[in-house]
Amino acid sequence: MREGAHLAGGSDGARASGGERPAFDTKVAHQARIYDYWLGGKDNYAADRKAAEAAIAAYPGVATGARANRQFLARAVRHLAGEAGIQQFLDIGTGIPTANNTHEVAQSAAPESRVVYVDYDPIVLIHARALLASHDDGHIDYLDADLRDPETILGQASRTLDFSRPVAIMLIAILHAVGDDDDPYQIVARLIDAVPPGSYLALSHVASDIDPEKIAEATARLNQLSHQHFTLRDHAEVTRFFTGLELLEPGVVRVEEWRPVSELEGRNRSAMWGAVARKR
Ligand SMILES: C[S@@+](CC[C@H](N)C(=O)[O-])C[C@H]1O[C@@H](n2cnc3c(N)ncnc32)[C@H](O)[C@@H]1O
Repeated sequence: MREGAHLAGGSDGARASGGERPAFDTKVAHQARIYDYWLGGKDNYAADRKAAEAAIAAYPGVATGARANRQFLARAVRHLAGEAGIQQFLDIGTGIPTANNTHEVAQSAAPESRVVYVDYDPIVLIHARALLASHDDGHIDYLDADLRDPETILGQASRTLDFSRPVAIMLIAILHAVGDDDDPYQIVARLIDAVPPGSYLALSHVASDIDPEKIAEATARLNQLSHQHFTLRDHAEVTRFFTGLELLEPGVVRVEEWRPVSELEGRNRSAMWGAVARKR
């Protein structure tokens, strides 16, 4: 194993095209640290725990949903690096490192996998070094950049990824942090446009139409207590992200229903839609 690559990006070149990026502030809850708390991690502060617990009080399923989402990520990457033969991953909305990070799953199936991580949160940047330990045959980079600025991401990712060959674009549990004003459908279309046929999109998103009252209350509490504002979307709205792509079976489903490998995995209930699709 070796330390892969360098930290690319930098806050100046990676400013959002709209809206603010979170500053490092331990007094305000951040999505990455709330999620870390739900996953049982230790990289969170009192404000994050307060927001995370407030959401759990409104909807106890959010913590099991986070775990189900994480398992979906691992199954999707395992499929892509294994059966689908993908060796390049653009993982936007990396989060704080935990078990089964994208490069670990991908490189255990295909050691030569090249992975570019992207996140806009300074706390994730601080932890990025932990993500850069690549298998010798592969390569990993980290970009401190904003999803709402896809041109910067694509430009900097091209130092590591060959965009003439298939790439898996991973947008796992991030798009609900992009409001309609920032045109998330246009952002996803731009990313898909940059990759050749045979590429994939793996995506998950908090649902507005699963346990709708509870999830709406949990989201309202998070929106009040955290830096980010969350926009829930229903099944049809999440399916729209895959326009023009060929959805793999079983389509857009609750994340725990996407090819669970054990009964236990299938039982971790979530209020999240997820799917994997191929560019024709
Ligand atoms: C809930 S975590 C998901 C982590 C991982 N993808 C997973 O599903 O386990 C969402 C991550 O997206 C990041 N994020 C949210 N909005 C973003 C944006 N506009 N640009 C880049 N990263 C963003 C947050 O900082 C956070 O680390």
